[in-house]
Amino acid sequence: MHKLVITGGTSLEGEITISGAKNSAVAIIPATLLVDGPCRIENIPKIKDVKMFLKILENIGAIIEYIDDSTVIIDTSSIDSYEARYDEASKIRASYYLMGALLGKFKNARVALPGGCDFGTRPIDQHIKAFESLGAKVDIEHGLITARANELNGSSFYMDVVSVGATINAMLAAVKAKGTTVIENAAKEPHVVDVANFLNNMGANIIGAGTDIIKIKGVDKLPGGTTYSIVPDQIEAGTFMIASAITNGDITVKNIIPKHLESLSAKLIEMGASVKENDDGDSLRVKIDKKLLAVNIKTQPYPGFPTDLQPQITALLSQVDGISIITEAVWDSRFQYIPELRRMGAQIRVEGRIAIVEGVERLTGAKIKATDLRAGAAMIVAGLGAEGITEVHDLEIIDRGYENVEEKFKQVGAKIERVRITEMDY
Ligand code: EPZ
Repeated sequence: MHKLVITGGTSLEGEITISGAKNSAVAIIPATLLVDGPCRIENIPKIKDVKMFLKILENIGAIIEYIDDSTVIIDTSSIDSYEARYDEASKIRASYYLMGALLGKFKNARVALPGGCDFGTRPIDQHIKAFESLGAKVDIEHGLITARANELNGSSFYMDVVSVGATINAMLAAVKAKGTTVIENAAKEPHVVDVANFLNNMGANIIGAGTDIIKIKGVDKLPGGTTYSIVPDQIEAGTFMIASAITNGDITVKNIIPKHLESLSAKLIEMGASVKENDDGDSLRVKIDKKLLAVNIKTQPYPGFPTDLQPQITALLSQVDGISIITEAVWDSRFQYIPELRRMGAQIRVEGRIAIVEGVERLTGAKIKATDLRAGAAMIVAGLGAEGITEVHDLEIIDRGYENVEEKFKQVGAKIERVRITEMDY
C-alpha cells in the first residue's frame, strides 16, 4: 500500500502529454468482442481498469499481444463464452459494457452487476431498456445480469436520461442486429464518439455519434484487421489545467482536442486565467497571472461542464476569494470528498446536490484520502495548492484512472512522492 506525499506551494510549469481516455479505453476493449479479426489499439492509457479489462478478456479466451506500453493487438474471434468471471467483472463499473458486447456477439450475456465509484444510486435501467428494445430478455439474479435473445432486431428508443454507459451499450448490442436502430436523447461525450469511430473503423455502420440521435445499421460481420488510436483523455487534461490554476502556474497540456475542454476553458477564463490554444491545435496553455475570481459551476452532460471535473474545480475554488456555488446535476451525490477538503481548512456547506464554497486564503496540508477516482485527483490538486505537506491515502483508487500520476505531476515541477505506507501511518 502506498500514499502520495505532496509539498504544496510550488507553481507548476512546463508541458505535459495527456494519455488516451480511460472512459474510451474501457468501452473499446470490450467492443473488440464484436470484431471478427485482430484489432490493433494504440494510445491505451496504462491504468488499472484497462489492465483489469484486458485480463477479463484473456480469461474468456481472447488472444492479446502487448506491442508496447500503450499498444495492444486483441483478437477475440476464438472466444466461445458469453459469461465474464464474477470476481473480476464486479470490481469495475465499466464491466457493464461486457453485457452489450457479449449480447451483440452471442445474443447471450451473463455478467456481474457493476462495481466502481459510489455516487448514490447507479442504476442500469436505461441499459436494460435498450437491450429489451432490441428483443432481449433481461434478468437480474444472484448479483448477475443475464440478457438473451433469439434474434436482435433493430429498433428505435428514447433514453429517459442522458447516459454515457447506456448509449455505448446500446451501440454495442445493436451493431450486428438485423435492421436499423435509432437511439434518441443519446449521450454526446467524446468517448461515445470514439467508440462509434472504432466500431465503424472495424466495419460497422453508425452515424450521428456526438449528436443526440445515433443511427446504427446492423451488419453481419466486423472484419476488423485495422488500427485505432484512442482519443485523448479530456478529464486528465482538465485535471492538469486546474492544477496549473491552483498553483498560479503555467502549464501546457499536449496531445489533446481543445474542443473537448471548451466548458472548462470558459470557466477558467471567467475566473481570470489565461487559456490559449497553441498553433498546433492539439494543446492548451493555462497561465495564471492575476488573482482568480469565484464562479458558479453546474455539471451537465457533454458539452456542459463535466461531472468528472467537479471535485477538482471545487478544490480550486476552495482557495479562491469569494462564494462559489457548485451544482452536481448528473449524479445523486458526488460530494463525499468534501469532508476531506474540510480537513485542509476548506469552508464548504453541502445541501443535497449543491455545495456552497466560501474561498479561504489558503488550504493547509493534511492527511486525507481518495473517496473515489476523481475525488482522489481533487485531493492531489488541493495538496499542490495548499501550504505545507499533504498525504493522500487510498492511492490505488487514483491508479485506476490516472497513469503514473506522481511521475506526470513531477514533469511540471510538483513536489510529490509515492511512499510506502508503514504501521506508523495507522
Ligand atoms: C460514465 O459513467 C463515466 N464512467 C463516469 O466517469 C461519468 O461520471 C459518467 O459517465 C457521466 O459522464 C465511465 O465511462 C466508465 P451515466 P456512467 O450512465 O456511464 C443516470 C470517472 O470518474 N442513469 O452517464 O455510469 C445515472 O444515475 C467516472 O471516470 C440512470 O438513471 O454514467 C446518472 O445520474 C465516474 N439509468 C446519470 O444517468 C441508467 O441506466 C449519468 O450516468 C444509467 C444512468
